[in-house]
Amino acid sequence: MRKLRIGMIGIGVGGAEILPAMDTMESIELVAGADVVQTTLDRFKGRYPEAKTYLSAQDLCDDPNVEAVWISSPNRFHAPHAIMAANAGKHVVVEKPMATSLGEAASMVEAAERNRVHLLAGHTRAFIRPIRGMRKIIASGKYGELRALNIWSFSDWMLRPRTPDELDVNQGGGIPYRQGPHQIDTVRLLGGGMLRSVRAQTGQWMKERSIPGYYAAFMEFESGLPATIVHNGYGYFSGAELVPWGEDKQVYTAGQRAAIRAALRAGTRDETGEKQQIRIGGSREKEYFTGVSQAAWVPEDMGFAIASLDRADLRQSKYGIYIHGDEGKRDVEIDRGNETGVVQRRAELEELYDAVVHGKPLWHDGRWGMATLEVCLAMMQSARERREIMLAHQTPMHPDYDADLPTPGA
Ligand SMILES: NC(=O)c1ccc[n+]([C@@H]2O[C@H](COP(=O)([O-])OP(=O)(O)OC[C@H]3O[C@@H](n4cnc5c(N)ncnc54)[C@H](O)[C@@H]3O)[C@@H](O)[C@H]2O)c1
Repeated sequence: MRKLRIGMIGIGVGGAEILPAMDTMESIELVAGADVVQTTLDRFKGRYPEAKTYLSAQDLCDDPNVEAVWISSPNRFHAPHAIMAANAGKHVVVEKPMATSLGEAASMVEAAERNRVHLLAGHTRAFIRPIRGMRKIIASGKYGELRALNIWSFSDWMLRPRTPDELDVNQGGGIPYRQGPHQIDTVRLLGGGMLRSVRAQTGQWMKERSIPGYYAAFMEFESGLPATIVHNGYGYFSGAELVPWGEDKQVYTAGQRAAIRAALRAGTRDETGEKQQIRIGGSREKEYFTGVSQAAWVPEDMGFAIASLDRADLRQSKYGIYIHGDEGKRDVEIDRGNETGVVQRRAELEELYDAVVHGKPLWHDGRWGMATLEVCLAMMQSARERREIMLAHQTPMHPDYDADLPTPGA
């Protein structure tokens, strides 16, 4: 099998989340890693002895053996690293948010097009199978027209260990930048992509964390289809509790969350040490994401997504999708065989591989990512200016996306 040779820039928590997915893919060869922390590079080398390590992103991009890069560096570096990689002739997958401004996103798109490389805006929950299955059910027309989309999340995102840049909204910190893309991308995928406007408010009410930990947004598609998204990351109530099997599948228990809050208030929390524990080779690396990568779905960071059609409501079930229709509730399984949820995290790499090796279209290209970023930025603008923001950079999802995926329950 033709292998695609990948290098990772920024081997942090987000990077650690994708490495197990790469490990399971015969089509991917991880050939290099770049990070500014030597300990991280040493641990990466320990796990991948064949891979080259670099203290600079530029050196990794200059490595002729690297064909594509996975960029999971801090948000403020997404644009410079993506442009650097494209200029070196590498294909790019960039973590969410794609960038921190529309100007940066436009430059990334331009760099990819000029260098004739693929730029994939990736790693949002819109790529997971149940969401893609919901899109297929909607498109089948079996339950009539799509009438409403609602996605609500209650997470403990604000209590997890954070670096200084993550606590600075000007560097892409906070719930709107970091969590908005998951829900926006999903709304756009299910609703076809073409949003018209957004009205939102953000919230910030924990003085130890000077970034927004909340947003609520109302969006309307060109067609008139309404959508709401909400994320509360303060971790008092956890959405995982909303499913009977979710109580013990959270990043932190309620007791741990209370202890973290107390330590933050007292100024005694070792945030740097805790963050390092969940990065590659850290003592909690494996266990940390247990709750969010279980085979059994729980409303983790993205929360509950409910699509309402003329004759059904669709939402995620433990292993697939509940279809609440006229005949009652059906549970259509999709992924029980997926032991760790890891398989679902391969989607971006599969899409990139198919584009590079088989010449297939890249569905989540730079323009798609820029459209999601536009909504994310518009939410924050709407909150500041207290008005509806009209959108100008939206792109549709191609109707052929997932053409080979069977429609669940058909
Ligand atoms: N999609 C997801 O589910 C998900 C989950 C977690 C994080 N992320 C994304 O990953 C990115 C990083 O967040 P994180 O939580 O992993 O933070 P992190 O601090 O753990 O990771 C960032 C890594 O980049 C390294 N780095 C910093 N500057 C660099 C540079 N100039 N060149 C190379 N490496 C550099 C850091 O040393 C660190 O190892 C963010 O964009 C975030 O949105 C995505």
